[in-house]
Amino acid sequence: MNQEATPKTAKLSFGDKVLDLPVMVGSEGEVAIDIRQLRAKTGAITYDPGLGNTGSCTSKITFLDGEQGILRYSGYSIEDLAKQSSFVEVMWLLLHQQLPSAAQLAQFTQEITYHTMLHEDLKHLFSSLPKTGHPMAVCAAAVGALSTFYQKNVGSPADNNWGDSVRLLAKMPTIAAYSYKHGIGQPFMYPRNDLGYAANILHMMFGTPCERYEPNPVLARALDLLLILHADHEQNCSTSTVRTVGSSGANLFASVSAGISALWGPLHGGANQEVIEMLMSIRDGKRSAVEFMDLAKKKDSGVRLMGFGHRVYKNFDPRALILKKACDDVLGQLGRQDPLLDIAKELEQIALHDDYFVSRKLYPNVDFYSGIIYKALGIPVEMFTVFFAIGRMPGWIAQWLEYKKDPEAKITRPRQVFVGANQRAYRAVETR
Ligand code: ACO
Repeated sequence: MNQEATPKTAKLSFGDKVLDLPVMVGSEGEVAIDIRQLRAKTGAITYDPGLGNTGSCTSKITFLDGEQGILRYSGYSIEDLAKQSSFVEVMWLLLHQQLPSAAQLAQFTQEITYHTMLHEDLKHLFSSLPKTGHPMAVCAAAVGALSTFYQKNVGSPADNNWGDSVRLLAKMPTIAAYSYKHGIGQPFMYPRNDLGYAANILHMMFGTPCERYEPNPVLARALDLLLILHADHEQNCSTSTVRTVGSSGANLFASVSAGISALWGPLHGGANQEVIEMLMSIRDGKRSAVEFMDLAKKKDSGVRLMGFGHRVYKNFDPRALILKKACDDVLGQLGRQDPLLDIAKELEQIALHDDYFVSRKLYPNVDFYSGIIYKALGIPVEMFTVFFAIGRMPGWIAQWLEYKKDPEAKITRPRQVFVGANQRAYRAVETR
């Protein structure tokens, strides 16, 4: 429907009541019916499990069109940003909804570089946790714990949470690397200020105090690309969690810690780990690609083609297209081959020609190819989702800050349709 043809109101008749509900039109033409007066005027609520038809906010940060396979951060296409930008610049873009000037970028890079160290006492938190614990749990705990170290700044109106935002962006890679080093029993590596954001992550992950580690620029650029592609994705599960927790007035660290937990789930960011495990199980001969696909189509098998399907994309996820090409580029530049890439391409081809996947509009999502690059970088499988969290950090923070400034924001408190028992009399246990 074009913008002029969009009705200004939507008529809802309910019993003897007729409501003219205002219609909102976004800057890219998406249409929403504003139902805020619904319950007050009719006594009824809407029912929308999974909130697939519900807009919970207005936002200027990210636009995505799932039918067309379009993703833009503040108007800039993901393809242009992937080709020409850097993750640090994208952080600024998401936080300010405009690209930085050269001076702003230099100042921001300086801030991000000089807040990377963790308080020495925070190290004890890592060492108190089991080495076998999942690093996502470790990261959620460490990020939540930051609010105990920065109590004065928490919620400080003076700097509009800028100081906490910078700290979180700067310290997340250090937290991520410490969660890995703790698990393998190696000494924590302090950040190096002479390295760029991605190269420093590789140094903290793979360096040891025994010898100097020089990050390979091809790997650093590949990691930077992955971080750019993961930086924001509007109101997904973890971002909605960050906004929801923030809506209660909880501080930024607490809100983002909850977001990390939400991201961990296998239907969300945890899918990247599941994809690589699925590809490895096919490589190791547990099942052929065709057998696996047959299983993924059977509802009662409990098996899904991980890295496929998306709540919003009903076409190719543009990030998956970029990553598929990047897999070939990175492996080519490193002079390596990975049979997992061939298996992934085979699964994709089967799906693209299978009515089950075609009719349900199931295409590769961001998680389908990302793991092959993480693997080429030497990142262990259980750290994949942690790297997603490093990438998503600016998106979470930008969305949280936007929520804080939104004059229409309210504490998130959905309603329910109660279908349990009606009132009944309590009976003492001996009479039941
Ligand atoms: N494999 C097999 N069947 C699938 C898959 C899949 N990966 N995804 C969806 N389907 C089927 C469902 O069984 C359902 O079939 P039906 O209509 O016969 O009942 C239909 O497609 C629609 O699926 P829903 O689960 O209702 O779709 P929803 O939008 O709720 O879920 C989700 C989206 C969770 C991403 C889903 O596609 C999925 O589980 N994918 C695999 C996990 C994954 O890759 N998650 C990462 C998503 S991207 C991200 O969060 C970073």
